[in-house]
Amino acid sequence: MTHEVRGVVAPAKGAKVEVTTILVPDPGPGEALVRVQACGVCHTDLHYREGGIGDDYPYLLGHEAAGVVESVGDGVTHVAPGDFVILNWRAVCGECRACRRGRPWYCFNTHNARQTMTLADGTVLSPALGIGAFAEKTLVAAGQCTKVNPAARPEVAGLLGCGVMAGLGAAINTAPVVRGDSVAVIGCGGVGDAAVFGAVLNGARTIIAVDIDSRKLEWARQFGATHVINSRETDPVEGIRALTEGNGADVVIEAIGRPETYQQAFYARDLAGTVVLVGVPTPDMRIELPLLDIFGRGGALKSSWYGDCLPERDFPVLIDLYLQGRLPLDKFVSETIALDAVEEAFAKMERGEVLRSVVTL
Ligand SMILES: NC(=O)c1ccc[n+]([C@@H]2O[C@H](COP(=O)([O-])OP(=O)(O)OC[C@H]3O[C@@H](n4cnc5c(N)ncnc54)[C@H](O)[C@@H]3O)[C@@H](O)[C@H]2O)c1
Ligand SMILES: [Zn+2]
Ligand SMILES: [Zn+2]
Repeated sequence: MTHEVRGVVAPAKGAKVEVTTILVPDPGPGEALVRVQACGVCHTDLHYREGGIGDDYPYLLGHEAAGVVESVGDGVTHVAPGDFVILNWRAVCGECRACRRGRPWYCFNTHNARQTMTLADGTVLSPALGIGAFAEKTLVAAGQCTKVNPAARPEVAGLLGCGVMAGLGAAINTAPVVRGDSVAVIGCGGVGDAAVFGAVLNGARTIIAVDIDSRKLEWARQFGATHVINSRETDPVEGIRALTEGNGADVVIEAIGRPETYQQAFYARDLAGTVVLVGVPTPDMRIELPLLDIFGRGGALKSSWYGDCLPERDFPVLIDLYLQGRLPLDKFVSETIALDAVEEAFAKMERGEVLRSVVTL
């Protein structure tokens, strides 16, 4: 059987997104059909629309989602119809060279559904990050479904599926921040604020939030930033050094993905400190740094893919922390919107009016 549902599609590079009919097949072996309940609007969806990620249009956008498993294909045992799940884009293969060496959070061959979803005329859709959840139903590999406590509201649970996990994980897994560290986070959208809270969770001493938008800095304070710097007004490298006894921060997390802010992160860290790039750059971006500074400043320059998370390990724990009142996921949800308001949500994101707009279905 094929399911005819509504979904949000980016038809061509730079073109506005459209709500249109999409066709979703019943799950085949190893696949799951999920009735999506909520899906957050992440900056990565906008990168897809603008051509920053690839050229495989049309894209079925949306990838920060929670929902209920409707049916599963042959051989699927770890989830069943009725399960409340968060969708993930790291269904590890267990067989690639990263998995075999015991580093599955780097898995180089993650699973997605084998069958395709299409437009009504049969045009094959590329689901964003192998998910495509701005849709009433979506088809994923069963391993992309992580079962969590259904007491969590879908609109907050879904956020762990991408941006919040990426930011939290950049701090708690990739860096990792340790008790007593000074931490700076450059760019305080949903991802950056999650990194701020990750620094709180791991016991950072000083947490400096940097953004060009004062509203974002106020929100960052609510997540636990101890200091804020508006980098339109204050040079962030000087500002971060001034707040860290002239030294720079132990960990600087870049959550925008731009050369100039990466450079700020590079110079705002202490000697032997760590830079974590969690923001996603576009293919045209370049950076030039004196090689001697890379050597002489020492430390580590890391990238964080999905916060180095393992969904099966991390999502259930983080949902429990949320349900115990120890992880303020509700604060990320600025508004809930309908499927046809994604284009407007992109504009609000660009104007800095929201942390997360979440589509509810
Ligand atoms: N690594 C991953 O696995 C992963 C996962 C999800 C998202 N991301 C990426 O993380 C980045 C952030 O995503 P988001 O959803 O939080 O985006 P967002 O648009 O909500 O937030 C970006 C923030 O950066 C600020 N900003 C922009 N330019 C700035 C500058 N020059 N100096 C200081 N602040 C500046 C904005 O005011 C905004 O607050 C994006 O590049 C996204 O693609 C990465
Ligand atoms: Zn693997
Ligand atoms: Zn995302």
